[in-house]
This record gives sequence, C-alpha cells and structure tokens, in this order.
Amino acid sequence: MLERRVAGSVAKKHHVALREGGELRYEECLTRDGFDGPYTILYHRGRPHAQRAVELTHGWTAPAETPGQPSQRALRKRHYQSQKLAAGGGSPIDARVPLLFNRDVVLGVVKPKGDDPTYFSNGDGDDLYYVHEGGGTLRSVLGDVVFGAGDYVYVPRGLVHRFVLDGGAAQYWLSIEAAGGVGPLKQFRNDVGQLRMDAPYSHRDFKRPHFEAPRDEHIRDLVVRRDGRWHGFTLEDSPLDVVGWDGTVYPWAFPILAFQPRVSSIHLPPTWHGTFATKGALICSFVPRLLDFAPDSIPCPYPHSSVNCDEILFYADGNFTSRRGVGPASISHHPMGVPHGPHPGAYEASIGATRTDELAVMLDTYLPLQTTAAALAVEDPGYQDSFI
Ligand SMILES: [Fe+2]
Repeated sequence: MLERRVAGSVAKKHHVALREGGELRYEECLTRDGFDGPYTILYHRGRPHAQRAVELTHGWTAPAETPGQPSQRALRKRHYQSQKLAAGGGSPIDARVPLLFNRDVVLGVVKPKGDDPTYFSNGDGDDLYYVHEGGGTLRSVLGDVVFGAGDYVYVPRGLVHRFVLDGGAAQYWLSIEAAGGVGPLKQFRNDVGQLRMDAPYSHRDFKRPHFEAPRDEHIRDLVVRRDGRWHGFTLEDSPLDVVGWDGTVYPWAFPILAFQPRVSSIHLPPTWHGTFATKGALICSFVPRLLDFAPDSIPCPYPHSSVNCDEILFYADGNFTSRRGVGPASISHHPMGVPHGPHPGAYEASIGATRTDELAVMLDTYLPLQTTAAALAVEDPGYQDSFI
C-alpha cells in the first residue's frame, strides 16, 4: 500500500451520511486483514452489493498439478520458452496461462487480444503484472491507471476493474497472483509509512488512479474469482458510479526503470534488487547498471545454493551474460536443493566488465513451485545439460 489518497467527494467522517443534491450516497469499505489492515472507503450512487447471481463463462483455467508433481518429477534446472506459448486470445480475464505455482503465488503469462468485456474482481489474491509488451488502461472503481511496456501494474484483491488495451499493440504480460498481498518492502518505510530517503524508489515514481467523476460504460456483468473458481453476477448499477473515495488500497503502476539499482565494490546479493514483497516470495528487478568496481571483483553472479528458495527469472531485455540460450520472455526456474550459477565461461569472462544492460524480473519463493501442463509444453529439454 502507498500513502492515503482522496478523490472526489467524501463524507466528513467515516460512516456518516454523504448527500449530494439531497441524495444519500452509499458507502463501501474495502478492507484488508479483516478490519485491521489498510482500507479504502468509496461512496456510490447505487448500492454496491446489489448483485444478481448469473451464469457467466469467463476466466483462465486454475493451475493444476501436472501428474507426477512435485515429488516424482526429477530435480532439474528448467527453462520455459514462454515465447512459444500461443496468444491465449480473448481479453485479459480469459487469456492468462498459469505456468508455475505454489500456495503463495501463481506465475503466468497473459497475451490478451482485446478489452475485458466485463468487470473482474479477484477474490484469491492481489495481481501484479509486469508488462513486457503492450499497454493500456486499468479501469477501476477508483479511477483509471494508464500503463505501458516496462511497467509493473498492481491490482489489489477484490478491486472491481477491467482492462482496456491500447489498440493494435501486441500485449505480453507476466502475471503474479499473490495470496498474501504485494507491496513495497517493510524496510523501505520510515515510522510514518513514507518511503525512506534511501529506498530504491520514491512516492513520485508511482502512477496512481486518475479519478474524475461517476461514469457508466453500460456494462453490468461482473466475474469474481474465488478459490480458483469463477462466479458471475449482474449488477444493478454501474460499479463506476463512485462519487469519491479515500484510503490506501488502490491500484498503481510502477515503471521498472524507476527502480534505482545499487552498485558496490563487490557483487551484491539479489536482496539488493528486492522491489516488492509478498508472503512467501520476494520480487526483484534487475535493471541496467554499473558493475562492481573492486580490483579483481567478479561481477557475474557466483554459483550458489540458496537452500530454501526456488528462483524464477523472467528475462525482459538486454544481454544476459550469465545465461546461454535464453532470450526475451524466457523463464528460468532454478529449484532449491541443487546449486545453480553462470553458464560455462561467463564467470571468467565477466572480470573487468563495467556495466550490464540486463532487464529482468526475478521471483524467489520459499515453497517449491509446481509446473502446469502449459509450462511443460514449452520447456527447453537441453537446459539442464547446458551448464556442462
Ligand atoms: Fe540465483
């Protein structure tokens, strides 16, 4: 969550009447952690809970364990060529393809072809996207967030929204569904919740929702994802009939290149690239930067056994000096239990290098990841042996 925002009209206090032209507005409290956590209070023209249950067929397929997973599948370094996934077709609600998952996170790829025709609320977790290609507008009850390639886009759990895509642009997003919430690392904040002076980004780097006035797109369908299943509703009013809101729960976008990388005299561990935290995982950004400058320092990542993390890397752009055979949109999966490190020659060749232009998103998870059939279909079978 970021700082509190106010948009449009709100009542003088929580839970007292807000009237406009003599008409009473309806409060909706979007709360987290029961009523203990961050919250936002919205004011609607209509009753936000007036929903008729209907059959609506939308949504991506829940990730399913591939037979033999995880205990019987051999322990190997893996490379999934997400470039080979066919465009899922349909809107973002329908086009998501889960690839790797555990109890905490589901990592997938979304290659949507058109705007969401209905509103969507994810009751299973926060959604964080990394927009590898494309862009558009996240339209929500709290306003519009415009995003483009290179942005992270954050959608809080339970937020009613839909995506409107930039026409004609190819869309290629990495998706991370996080059951335990997503946000800046705790240590980036000072006592009042502000991002610290020495955090690797500031409040100014985030694109927040632009709210103008109540609107009606004449869409009344809402699909809700809950416990991996989809549930349809028809709303009585436009969910965008909001006259104002205040709070800390809202969507945002953050350009990955706004992350300020750190450089040391010797190699810094991945934690220094930590960008967002979620329960059970750390999301890191590797952006173009100068490299380590101590005499004889080795800038290439050292071989390591990170004994309780599965490590996922989504390669976005640049030259990945430590990896052979990976290209943009490749996803590597280095599981806990065996060491991993650079490809042959990369370690030695990196000595004396002064900068890197790599751009990548990394996810370290504390529970082992399982693989879906969609991931197996685009797996590079030669990856394990490519380190010999
Ligand atoms: Fe690693």
